[in-house]
Amino acid sequence: MKKLLTILVIVVAVFAVVYAFSGKSGANNKVLVAYFSATGNTATVADKLATAIGADLFAIEPAQVYTAEDLDWKNEKSRASVEMADRGSRPEIASQVENMEKYDVVFLGFPIWWGREPSIIDTFVDSYDFNGKTVIPFATSGSTPDTAEAEENFRMLMPADIKTGKRFPVDVSEEELKAWASEWL
Ligand SMILES: Cc1cc2nc3c(=O)[nH]c(=O)nc-3n(C[C@H](O)[C@H](O)[C@H](O)COP(=O)(O)O)c2cc1C
Repeated sequence: MKKLLTILVIVVAVFAVVYAFSGKSGANNKVLVAYFSATGNTATVADKLATAIGADLFAIEPAQVYTAEDLDWKNEKSRASVEMADRGSRPEIASQVENMEKYDVVFLGFPIWWGREPSIIDTFVDSYDFNGKTVIPFATSGSTPDTAEAEENFRMLMPADIKTGKRFPVDVSEEELKAWASEWL
C-alpha cells in the first residue's frame, strides 16, 4: 500500500512538472506580433518587439501600397482621408496569417491615424476569429500619447480580451519592449 502511494505521488509530481514547464516554454501560449506600417516607424518597433520576446512576426501589407500622396492627411480627398472618414472602410490585405488559431496572444501594431487605428487594421481584425485570444495594441504616432481610441474600437470589433496598449517612440529599446510585454507572456 505504501509502495503504491509512493508511485502515485511520483506520477502526480512528474505531471505537475511537465505541466508547469510546458506553460513556461510557450507550448500553450504561442505569440504573434502583427503590424501595419506605412512609412516604417511601426515596422521598426514591431521588429524589435518580436526579436525581444521571440514571437512570430507578420506584416499586414496592403494589396495596394500607400503612396506619399495617399497618406497626405492635409488633403481631405487623399486615400487615407477618404478611408478614415468611412468607418466601414476595409482596405484589402495582400496576405493571410497561417494558422491564426495557434496564437493565444497577439500584439497588434499600427501608426495612429486621426487618433485611432488605420482602417486596414479593422480589415485584419475582421479577417480572423479572435474569440479567446488576448490582444495587446501598440503604436507609433506623431504626438497622440496612447492607443485608447483604438482599444475602444477593438472591443466593438472582436470578442478578444483587449488589454490597455502603449504608444512607443521609434527608438524604444528591445529591453524596454521586453519588460512591457512580459506581463502577458
Ligand atoms: C494619414 C495619417 C494620419 C495621421 N494621424 C495622426 C494622429 O492623429 N496623431 C498622431 O500623433 N500622428 C498621426 N500621424 C503620424 C503617424 O502616426 C506617425 O508618423 C507614425 O509613426 C507613422 O508610422 P508608420 O511609419 O509605421 O506608418 C498620421 C500619419 C498619417 C499618414
